[in-house]
Amino acid sequence: MRYAVLSDIHSNYEAFEAVLKKIEELGGVDGYAFCGDLIGYGPDPEDCCRRMMGLKNLIAVAGNHDMSLFREDFFAWFSDYAKQSMLYTARNLSKQSQEFIKTFAKEYHGKDFCMVHGSFLDPFRDYLLSSEQFVLNLDKWKGSLCFVGHSHVPFIMSYKSNRMPQIDLFLGSDVTIKMLPAIRYVINPGSIGQPRDTNAKASFGILDTKQQTFRLIRIPYDIASVQKKIEERGLPEILSKRLGQGK
Ligand SMILES: [Fe+2]
Ligand SMILES: [Fe+2]
Repeated sequence: MRYAVLSDIHSNYEAFEAVLKKIEELGGVDGYAFCGDLIGYGPDPEDCCRRMMGLKNLIAVAGNHDMSLFREDFFAWFSDYAKQSMLYTARNLSKQSQEFIKTFAKEYHGKDFCMVHGSFLDPFRDYLLSSEQFVLNLDKWKGSLCFVGHSHVPFIMSYKSNRMPQIDLFLGSDVTIKMLPAIRYVINPGSIGQPRDTNAKASFGILDTKQQTFRLIRIPYDIASVQKKIEERGLPEILSKRLGQGK
């Protein structure tokens, strides 16, 4: 099976579309794994929902931005500009799209991989970023591979019994990792719609379960068009700026 691994799209339709086009150019995939945060921040929540609804064999977990549509406590946790963008998002989402987002799971435990937005200790708020957090999560999932999102930073953590977990940030635009037996991996494919590792290019991955490889890919997209929409639709300026800076 080949899966596209997608995360943190954040209503950025141009970036999402560019990623889906690239996946087709690479020969397509058998299914899609989505690590959460489809909406929030960006200008096109409805278009992004419609596009995701059409993806075949989609496995999706919810992110904190997705959940904030339905949970007041998650909304209250946001910064002012995130709140403004969520109010805009709620106004610009159809009932059908809201129902679609409600189908996203809290966590996923499958044969080929597990998946959660933040961490298994608190799926929507906790971040899984350090080796200490990695160890605390180890007995919350089974198997050798887990995908997370939320931090918007692509990385791979690997763990061999009795050794300290290793953390590697993905560097470069196209990196393929061969996954080895007896090692457990947590991988963040990075963010499609709002990268935060100072690289403004959209980030995603492709898992090949037969080859036991994970390929991380960065691609450019039309950032200026998204920035123009953010401005025209009255969304906070910071959301436009950070797209250009990748942080
Ligand atoms: Fe996010
Ligand atoms: Fe998040």
